[in-house]
Amino acid sequence: MNTQSIALVTGANRGIGFEVSHQLGALGYTVLLGCRNTTRGRAAQEALRADGIKAQQIDLDVSIPASIEAAVAQVERDYPHLDVLVNNAAIHYDTWQRVTDANMDIVAEAIEANTLGPWRLSVALLSMLRRSKAPRIVNVSSEGGSIASMSGGTPAYSLSKAGLNAITRMMAHELEREGILVNAICPGWTKTDMGGSGGRPVADGAKGIIWAVTLDRSGPSGGFFRDGQPLPW
Ligand SMILES: NC(=O)c1ccc[n+]([C@@H]2O[C@H](COP(=O)([O-])OP(=O)(O)OC[C@H]3O[C@@H](n4cnc5c(N)ncnc54)[C@H](OP(=O)(O)O)[C@@H]3O)[C@@H](O)[C@H]2O)c1
Repeated sequence: MNTQSIALVTGANRGIGFEVSHQLGALGYTVLLGCRNTTRGRAAQEALRADGIKAQQIDLDVSIPASIEAAVAQVERDYPHLDVLVNNAAIHYDTWQRVTDANMDIVAEAIEANTLGPWRLSVALLSMLRRSKAPRIVNVSSEGGSIASMSGGTPAYSLSKAGLNAITRMMAHELEREGILVNAICPGWTKTDMGGSGGRPVADGAKGIIWAVTLDRSGPSGGFFRDGQPLPW
C-alpha cells in the first residue's frame, strides 16, 4: 500500500461498513464514507477521526443515480485517484417472505440498492480507479446469493446478491487486462442490525473484506470468497 491509498466504502455509517472503514483507516487508508444520511455519516466520520483515522463523509445513496453522480463528482474534484471501492451498502434481508409470495416492490428495491447501485457506482468510478497503481473493487455479497445453495427464502435479498455475483464475474473478466481485481465477499453471519444478535463479531465479518482489499496484484479476481476461502456460486 502506498501512503496515499484511498478507499470508498458504501453504507459506512454502521455495521460491517463502519468496521471495514475502521480497519482500513487503521491500515493507513484515507477512507471516504459513502452514507445516505448526512447526520449519521458525520457521526461515523467523527468517531473514526477520534481514533486518528483520515475519514471523510460523502453523501451517497446508491439507490439514486443522481446521488451516485454527485458523489463521484465530489471524489473526482477532491482526490487524485481511488484505490479501493467497497460496495457494502445493502437492504431487505427479507426473511418474512418466500419466492412464491414475494412482494415485487420489495424485490425491485433490493435489486436497485444491492445490484444496480454497486454496478452503477463501480462503472462511474472506473476512471478514478484506473488512476490507482493497485485498484480493487470488493462487492460485499452473501452466501444467500449462491445459486448452488439457494432455497425459496429471502427471495429479494438472494436474487439481488446473485445478481451482484454475476456483475462481479463479468466486471472481473472485462477489467482483468487493466489489473483491476474484482471479487465478491461473503462476510459470514455477523452481529449487526441486518444480521441480528446471533452472528459473529463485526470485526470478524470485516476481515474477509479487508483480505480482498489487500490482495497483491497477482491475487484472484472474479471469485466468491468467505474468510479467504472460495464459496460455490
Ligand atoms: N450481517 C450479516 O450477517 C451479513 C451476512 C452476509 C452478508 N452481509 C452483507 O454485508 C453488508 C453489510 O451488512 P450489515 O450487516 O452491516 O448491514 P446493516 O447493519 O443493515 O447496515 C447497512 C448499511 O448500508 C447502508 N445503506 C442501506 N441502503 C443504502 C443506500 N441506498 N445507500 C447508501 N447506504 C445504504 C445503511 O445506511 P443507513 O444507516 O442510512 O440505513 C447502513 O449503513 C451488506 O451488503 C449485507 O448484505 C451481511
